[in-house]
Amino acid sequence: MDNIRDLLLNRRTIRKYLSDPVDDELLTGLLESACRTSTTGNMQVYSIIVTRDEIIKKELLPLHFNQNMVTEAPVILTFCADFNRFSKWCRLRDAEPGYDNFLSFMTAAIDALIAAQTLCIAAEANGLGICYLGTTTYMAHKIIDVLQLPKGVVPVTTVTLGWPAEKPEQTDRLPLEAVVHHEVYRDYTDAGIEELYRGKEGRTDSAQFIRENNKTTLAQVFTDVRYKKDDNVAFSKMLLRVLNDQGFMNQ
Ligand SMILES: Cc1cc2nc3c(=O)[nH]c(=O)nc-3n(C[C@H](O)[C@H](O)[C@H](O)COP(=O)(O)O)c2cc1C
Repeated sequence: MDNIRDLLLNRRTIRKYLSDPVDDELLTGLLESACRTSTTGNMQVYSIIVTRDEIIKKELLPLHFNQNMVTEAPVILTFCADFNRFSKWCRLRDAEPGYDNFLSFMTAAIDALIAAQTLCIAAEANGLGICYLGTTTYMAHKIIDVLQLPKGVVPVTTVTLGWPAEKPEQTDRLPLEAVVHHEVYRDYTDAGIEELYRGKEGRTDSAQFIRENNKTTLAQVFTDVRYKKDDNVAFSKMLLRVLNDQGFMNQ
């Protein structure tokens, strides 16, 4: 138990990797661990695309906004919400699948994310480094083409995997009381927000972040630079179109 706690509390995202490969046996073991995780109704409505091929990685690179890890990590894993396989099985067995709706997308996306995180923990327990790529949902329409995902399948997250070539400082976290509510949700007062974000805002790396981005508060770095409304709305429209095209919008 202590080992698991140490592992979870000491982890950090790894964005630089050695060129050493991740051998097949180890990767298969990680995938087996991921697939033993909880899944809605034991339907396993997700798929994992393993990319090792340099040519495919190069095609994925711009779709992940040229984040170096995509070509530098030996393995790229794309976790997909997938009702295609399960629905095909239903049809073969005289059962009518009713999964062409948004709820089913959420079900499958939740399954995919739980499998992804289980794989990440297993990878870190083996000394490997991982980095999630949020760009997957921004560019899902193009990733679908590169990975040849059929209707009923939507990529929801990507994980880069390899042997660490860095040991970055751990990032900060909000205090536990910021995120945990006992029995019912306790909404935040302005004074409470001030208190909970004081530590984050007081860090020297936060001050540097604000300076580098020419902003006056840390929150502005998020709203005006990193996760802007216009971008969010544009990517959101694209994602809704993807869900429609892939058959998850009640058609
Ligand atoms: C869903 C998700 C998407 C992420 N997307 C990216 C990404 O596109 N690029 C990146 O460098 N890190 C990405 N990260 C990693 C986070 O930046 C990182 O987890 C966070 O800064 C905390 O750092 P830590 O994991 O080292 O504690 C992502 C993490 C999650 C959970």
